[in-house]
Amino acid sequence: MSNKRLIIALDFKNIDEMSHFISSLDPQKCIVKVGLQLFISEGPKVLDFLSQRGFEIFLDLKLHDIPNTVRKSVEEISQYNVKLTTIHLQGGRDMIQAANQVKGDTKILGVSLLTSLDDGDTRELYNNDFEKQFNNLINLATETKVDGIVCSSQELELITDPSLIKVVPGIRNQESSDDQKRVMTSSEAYSNGADYIVVGRPITQAKFIEEAVKDYS
Ligand code: C5P
Repeated sequence: MSNKRLIIALDFKNIDEMSHFISSLDPQKCIVKVGLQLFISEGPKVLDFLSQRGFEIFLDLKLHDIPNTVRKSVEEISQYNVKLTTIHLQGGRDMIQAANQVKGDTKILGVSLLTSLDDGDTRELYNNDFEKQFNNLINLATETKVDGIVCSSQELELITDPSLIKVVPGIRNQESSDDQKRVMTSSEAYSNGADYIVVGRPITQAKFIEEAVKDYS
């Protein structure tokens, strides 16, 4: 992996909206994340667009399906210049292994429990408390040798496996009143063990984009 640790979430509607923003970014200083919205609206051409401009790409589609379908999807993803991509650990051992077998140079990150779920949800869904269910999924990530995981800053301390790459969203260096509830500053996240941080709106909506990138680098 390169020494870049800042991942900027390109949560834009389409390439038109995104292209003005990325002209302020230096591909040597950040990785960019393409999520469902941008990928659904533009398809794989957004990957070529970013790659041609020198960016390393995190394709965040959170795959969750039968092993054969995930294998074929990861095979497609690995044909593009994609550095990191996501699958749901809840897809189970066979699905994770299917993804691993065909990942090529792309690193696979497992999503554990979505940060929108709480203890009430995990009891309803799995008859288990949040922390136990989270630990089950992290153990599975370790056993299947997935490359890394996406987790909230509060969950960082629950992950003891040093070989897992830890990617952490929900980062705020200034007070904000948006929908992120459990937040941490970039320096706290790094000192608590994050390998990469994911930052969206504090940079995409900043008045001075280069300054904001510097603040989170
Ligand atoms: O704008 P903001 O910094 O909140 O963006 C964070 C990015 O990380 C978004 O693309 C969001 O979908 C993603 N993300 C998250 N929480 C997770 C997983 C991903 O905020 N648990």
